[in-house]
Amino acid sequence: MTIIITDCDHGNIDEETKVFATAGLTFRLEQCITEDDLIARCAGSEYLINQYAPMTRRVMEALPDLKFVARYGVGVDNIDVAAATELGVQVCNVPDYGMNEVADHALTFFLALSRKLIPMNEQTRALRWDYKASKPIRRMSDMTVGLYGLGRIGKNFAGKVRTLGCKVVGYDVNDAVYNDPAIAFIEKVSFDDLLARSDAVLIFAPLETTRGAFDKTALSKMKPSAYLINTSRGGIVDEADLDEALKNGTIAAAAFDVMSKEPADPAHPLFQNENFICTPHMAWYSEESALELKRKAAEEAASYAKERTCRYPVNKPATPR
Ligand SMILES: NC(=O)c1ccc[n+]([C@@H]2O[C@H](COP(=O)([O-])OP(=O)(O)OC[C@H]3O[C@@H](n4cnc5c(N)ncnc54)[C@H](O)[C@@H]3O)[C@@H](O)[C@H]2O)c1
Repeated sequence: MTIIITDCDHGNIDEETKVFATAGLTFRLEQCITEDDLIARCAGSEYLINQYAPMTRRVMEALPDLKFVARYGVGVDNIDVAAATELGVQVCNVPDYGMNEVADHALTFFLALSRKLIPMNEQTRALRWDYKASKPIRRMSDMTVGLYGLGRIGKNFAGKVRTLGCKVVGYDVNDAVYNDPAIAFIEKVSFDDLLARSDAVLIFAPLETTRGAFDKTALSKMKPSAYLINTSRGGIVDEADLDEALKNGTIAAAAFDVMSKEPADPAHPLFQNENFICTPHMAWYSEESALELKRKAAEEAASYAKERTCRYPVNKPATPR
């Protein structure tokens, strides 16, 4: 039985080591980057924990012993899940380790943009003590926030932003999300209404079903005073269209934790916009959530290796390998 962590940039694997020691299982860490790394270094392995390395059809076909892949995180866009299902490879993720942190990060973006925190800090440090440069600032409780996606993180954020007194409107392709009484305060709207009515639009949906959804057409339906906040995945927003929208005043500002290519190129045109703020895909992170993520990913691999069960399946292969 071979368990391999295909790649991991967390600094240490102490948490995983504890889980596998308790389960009586051995494992090793590789630092694969490419498909060829995965094929060469994970040959013969049955159970993988994966961070960013591309788990493509080619990789899974070249690893005939592979039975299981656990992803460190929620998003599985670096794994070809359809190919995994077809090839009998069970995929799982860790969907619930950092939802508080991501919601908090999105809220931080919303507050920073609304209160003009970053430009005013820069101005004050440049020895200009003048609140008027921050104009206009709106009263929070008069603002409408629009949530694109009402899953774990969207709902968590909704509960938090509600305490500021904001009106919350939501759009989700899955009508069942509105059955949750905890979010009865969210007004269900169409995508177009979400764009037109919101003072801030926040994206809390997976890339797989939303690639390019925020393009020139969608951005043009937003208020010129509105903010776009994305803590989900880069490819959901067309970055060239956003750049144009920020430059020509179609929207007021944007705050992103994710880019279509990461690490983002420092020469990316978006970074030339003062009304664009960006953090390095860190919304998930706190000391506590990092440990929870590592522990849960290792527990999934141990559980599948020993009992062929997992708590967070992403697919359901008809004929598991
Ligand atoms: N930046 C980070 O550090 C970080 C950390 C964790 C998760 N994420 C990302 O956050 C996103 C949301 O995570 P989650 O745990 O809330 O996911 P989730 O699966 O619980 O919820 C996603 C919601 O989006 C909805 N949705 C799907 N397609 C849609 C569409 N076309 N239009 C509108 N809604 C749609 C789904 O019905 C679902 O309710 C994911 O993309 C995930 O990768 C980012």
